[in-house]
Parts: sequence; structure tokens; C-alpha cells
Amino acid sequence: MPNKKNEVTMDKIVSLCKRRGFIFPGSEIYGGLANTYDYGPLGVELKNNLKKIWWKYFVQDREDMVGLDGGIILSPKIWEVSGHVKNFKDPLAECKKCHHRFRPDKLKDASKCPDCNGEFTDVKMFSGLFKTIIGPIEEDGLTAYLRPETAQAIFVNFKNVLDSGTNKIPFGIGQIGKAFRNEITTGNFIFRTYEFEQMEIEYFIAPNADWNKIFEGWLEYIYGYADLIGLPRGQFFNHEIPDTERAFYSKRTIDIEYQFPFGQDELWAIAYRTNYDLSRHQEGSGKSLEYFDEEKKAKFIPHVIEPTFGVDRTLLAVLSQAYVEEEVKPGETRAVLKLKPALAPFKIAVFPLLKNKPQLVEKAREVFQALKKNYNCAWDERGNIGKRYRAQDEIGTPYCLTIDFDTLEKGDVTVRDRDTMKQERIKIEELGEYFEERLR
Ligand code: GAP
Repeated sequence: MPNKKNEVTMDKIVSLCKRRGFIFPGSEIYGGLANTYDYGPLGVELKNNLKKIWWKYFVQDREDMVGLDGGIILSPKIWEVSGHVKNFKDPLAECKKCHHRFRPDKLKDASKCPDCNGEFTDVKMFSGLFKTIIGPIEEDGLTAYLRPETAQAIFVNFKNVLDSGTNKIPFGIGQIGKAFRNEITTGNFIFRTYEFEQMEIEYFIAPNADWNKIFEGWLEYIYGYADLIGLPRGQFFNHEIPDTERAFYSKRTIDIEYQFPFGQDELWAIAYRTNYDLSRHQEGSGKSLEYFDEEKKAKFIPHVIEPTFGVDRTLLAVLSQAYVEEEVKPGETRAVLKLKPALAPFKIAVFPLLKNKPQLVEKAREVFQALKKNYNCAWDERGNIGKRYRAQDEIGTPYCLTIDFDTLEKGDVTVRDRDTMKQERIKIEELGEYFEERLR
């Protein structure tokens, strides 16, 4: 087995993402829009796979979980009541010349703009909420906000979910969707952007439940997701947020930090939010959000434990973990994405040995079409086989399959493993079982 070598840098990840169609800079042909990115053909597959695994593990595999897909634009009252309109603000210094804004605590020299040497205004509070206008006439319209977190859509639907289903407390609601924050970038690619996706859970519990035990249980369960997507536990750090830095309504918060190529920073988080959100919405809406415990004949406003995950940060962690450069023989290096097969954009690549031999191409297409029914497969007939292997290694395809002249005679193909680079001959009729075992 080749050895892992060479350092993984953000530059290498960014370059691979652009070159191979994972992630492109946003609005690029118009000169780009800072802090925005678009996911390309391979990026969207990887992102969908991360979300699919999350949904199965956190929602479908558990009897105490259900899902929701709430709106991005909600009543502005929700954000007033939740405290976001008043409190979701950052202190920023603005350059008088170029108008770029900076977090004062992140500035090396607080007197000069690092971009143009201009002078700063006094530090002011800037809202992190993106505003929009509802209604065709701007002056008469209602100011609404793009949601800065998916969580509130869960709280305001708590009663709907409860009344329409069979759930009893403790139970949780999971949701995946976009969130928007008008914030200052730290320049680490997709780590902090205006528009991103969250995967969030609000887990409702009784006020007298042993919340810390439930919190610890979720924390351990979260690490099961890290295992499923190939993030080693040794790369994580649980940052217990001290009393003085926690939101006032939270009794415990842990930032689950990860060792990214640029340094250690928040990947996911878990918080015990007490009954703050539901109480606020009960008060703000005038509608009861109480739960009636049939057995104990008791009424209460549930408390919540909230595990939260950023999709884009997870994808960045997965890419930087999977990316390896290794020497395959003296003087020859390959870049390979050692993604878990369940995450790989393509599971199998199918090659005819030569593209100008119609019998080979015809047979290869037959195999390709058959495998495509069950797996996302790539087709490649360019260049030589060695180059095709390297191209598939770089995008993380676990298996490459070559149809050659022996295939036409003996009915078997060469299957090459991405990680070991070993090759074996497998009968076409046995391919179904072969991949079933390896790609499940
Ligand atoms: N509902 C709780 C909440 O929103 P958060 O820690 O502010 O908590 C949750 O956000 C997760 O969303 C973070 O752990 C991170 O993964 C992701 N996230 C937050 N802001 C982000 C941004 N600007 N760009 C990309 N991901 C972000």
C-alpha cells in the first residue's frame, strides 16, 4: 500500500474543487461575488449523499424522530419574538474609503484597513439578517427576513407536528435546509458564507427530564454520524462553552470543533435551549404550545436539546479528510479522494479499453447501462487507462471497470480498487453481487 504523504492545504482543496466540478466561485463570469459558491456536478452528488446519510441516521433510523421542511421566508414576527431582530448583530468597523467591514477582534491593526489602508469608522452593530420585501410594491411591502437558522421553523410547527402524528415526548423533529447570514467572511472557502445549509434537530423533552443525560446521549450519537462519513474521532474537539459566553437561555452548549487544514474551528454544535423558544412563541403568538402528558395528567412547555450541523462545513471536512497525495512509484504521485463509497459521487467508472473498437464499446455500454440502474456510474473512453484511473481517483470513484478483448471471449472484466489499486477479473454476471457487498 502506498503511504500517505504531502500536506493537505486549503489551496489544494479549492483547486481540486474547481478543476473537477465540485465547487465553483459564485457568479464567476461576472467577476464573482465574494462569499458565495456554487456546487458543480460532483459537488451536488457529494452534498446530497451527506444529507441522505444524515436523514437516514438521525430521522428514519430512530423511532423518536420525524422530519419537516419549513419555509425560508417566515412571518417577520417569528424573528422579532425569537430575539434575532434585536440580537443577531455583530460589532463591525467599516473602512471609510473602501467600505469593507471587519470584526474588530479579528483585525491585526485596529487603526488601518488591511485592504486599502483607509481609516475606520467607529465600531457599529450590523444586523446579520438578510432583508427582503414581500409584495409587488416596495413602499407598501412587508419587510421579511431570509431565515438565519432552520430551527425556528421547527418551533413554530411544533404543535402542528404533535397534533398530526403519534409522537409522545421525548421526540424530535429534524430538518435540512438553507439558512442565510449577512456576515463577514474569514476567507476559508465554504467555511463561512452568506448562504449555507443546515441540518438541525430540536429534541423535545419534559422539564423534569434528566436533560444532561439526554444531552450526553445525543453527543455520543452525533459521533456515530462522524464515523459514517469517515471523519476520524481524533480530529474532533468538544469545546464546552463557558457560562459567560453562552446565550442567556442555554444551560449547556458544546461547539464540536474539527481540525480543518486552516486550523481548528466549529463544525457542529449541541445546545440545551431550555424552553426558551417555545415559551417565547407561545407568548408572541398567543397560541398554546403546551404539551399534555396523558399518563401524568400534567401540562408543560417542552424543553429542547438542539444538535445542529452545517452541510457545507461537513463537506469541507470530508473533502480535506479524504484528500491524499501519495507516491505510487518513485517519481510518480497520485491525488486520490478516499471517500467512503456511500459518499462518492460516482460509485463505479466503466471503460472500454479502446474507444475505436465498436465491439468493446458496445459491450462496455451494455455493462454500464446495467450497473447504472443501481449505482451512479461514470463513463470514460478518453486517453489511456492509466490516465482514466488517475482521473477517477481524484474524484473518489471506488471502482473502475475495464472491458477488454478477453471480456468478449470469457465474459469477465477487470475491476480495479481505488485505494489498493489492485485489480481482479470478475465475471459480468457476478458484478451485481460483487458491488452489492462492497457498495452497500
Ligand atoms: N440553530 C442553532 C444555530 O444556528 P449556529 O452554531 O449558529 O447554531 C449551526 O449554526 C451550524 O451552521 C454551525 O455549526 C455551522 O456548521 C453552520 N454555519 C453557521 N454559520 C455558517 C456560515 N456563515 N457559513 C457556513 N456554515 C455556517
